[in-house]
Amino acid sequence: MRFRSNSRPVLLLALAGLLSLSACDRGVTSTVPSATPSAEPVKAELVAAGGDPAVGEGAKSYAKYCALCHAKDGTGYAADNAPSLVSKTFLESASDELIAAGIRMGRPGTAMAAYGQARGGPLSEREIQNVVRFLRSKGPQPVPLPPGGEGDAARGKEVFEKNCQTCHGNLAMRGNAVNLQNPELLTAASPAFLRYAIVNGRPPTPMPSFQGRLSEQEIGDVVSFLWSFKPALPTPEVKKTDVPSDLPVVINPKGKHPKFTLRDGRFVSVEQVKDALAAKQRIVIIDARATSDWIQYHIPGAIPLPYHDRDKLDKVPNDGTWVVAYCACPHHASGEVVDALRAKNYPNTAVMDEGILFWKDRGYPLTGEAVKAAPSASAAPSAAKPGKAKPKP
Ligand code: HEC
Ligand code: HEC
Repeated sequence: MRFRSNSRPVLLLALAGLLSLSACDRGVTSTVPSATPSAEPVKAELVAAGGDPAVGEGAKSYAKYCALCHAKDGTGYAADNAPSLVSKTFLESASDELIAAGIRMGRPGTAMAAYGQARGGPLSEREIQNVVRFLRSKGPQPVPLPPGGEGDAARGKEVFEKNCQTCHGNLAMRGNAVNLQNPELLTAASPAFLRYAIVNGRPPTPMPSFQGRLSEQEIGDVVSFLWSFKPALPTPEVKKTDVPSDLPVVINPKGKHPKFTLRDGRFVSVEQVKDALAAKQRIVIIDARATSDWIQYHIPGAIPLPYHDRDKLDKVPNDGTWVVAYCACPHHASGEVVDALRAKNYPNTAVMDEGILFWKDRGYPLTGEAVKAAPSASAAPSAAKPGKAKPKP
């Protein structure tokens, strides 16, 4: 099944004002097709788009960076419940700028990284626009939207809790559907955009149409409720940090090798990794997310080797040292990295089971710009949180 309506509670760690929401509920193993671009579909896209070269370029970037989670054809749900980017009602209601902003800025606190170079991601503004052109080529142009409607946010909260929260979650509890209180979404969106999704749904995804199920007033109320979470100011620019090219690869080169117990011969728990670091054991930790995420925060000593940049894997010594990869997915990008290492006969490799959002939620050690920006949050980590549900693999 592609979509589960159960949600799991995740407590909020106010780290640099980011939402701490795990976007990853779906365990995905190595059976998923690789996101490596292949010439054929790109050529087919190009023909379909009347030969627009921007669309062809966008299709290539999409295959390399996005298909991993949003699926090869853009219909979403390949990992992490990443939404569809090509449903008719999404493309009708999303302006090019809304889509571009999603790519550029990401959705902090979820598996959706910032891909814009200004945020430390891999894509130039032109490449972002080409991806938008590619997505747009798969569906309709934007249509004029009816206004979002005025309502009462307090009443809207009740509407939301009754009709929406099981899927969408809230600030303290992650749901499986897009988080509607995310500051980057609300900075880029309009009340009319939100309303359009509520009235029309997002067929064929699980987002239902509430036309006839909620009154005009209730729809206005819930839009006002969501809109009340819009930040007063856009997120401040993060300082662009260049990732040093000479980072040491092996952590504790003089330490002993850890003794890991792997689940299914593949997954090592966050706790074992934390203990290995505390015991100063020899290990390589790979951060498989986009570099913008590494810049924000990462496990101390982890090297940035994003899932889309696998040729850099040759830096990793193949001498029996344990190599652990992690991402936010929590298995998908890191799984691809571990598959690539295993294909090259690295003997001791593992995927960090619960992923980095869970690690962060536990208050385990982290370093990076967001940690520096919020010293009080990192100095007093939320520590072990009793009663916290462990994500299902
Ligand atoms: C590691 C998984 C992952 C990758 C890779 C990824 N995304 Fe996402 N994306 C997500 C998730 C999860 C969300 C929903 C986040 C949320 O809950 O708010 C999302 C949301 C989005 C949105 C907002 C859509 C909406 O309806 O609001 C856009 C646009 C988007 N992604 C585009 C892209 C593009 C383009 C790429 C490639 C450059 C990409 N994503 C790569 C996981 C991913
Ligand atoms: C059965 C689960 C479910 C319920 C109930 C539900 N939604 Fe959704 N909703 C989704 C999914 C899944 C998506 C993402 C669809 C996609 O892939 O584009 C979504 C998308 C949206 C979007 C678009 C967000 C974006 O960034 O693209 C809005 C707005 C929205 N829902 C509002 C609501 C509101 C308000 C309610 C309650 C009145 C509600 N939803 C109830 C599952 C649900």
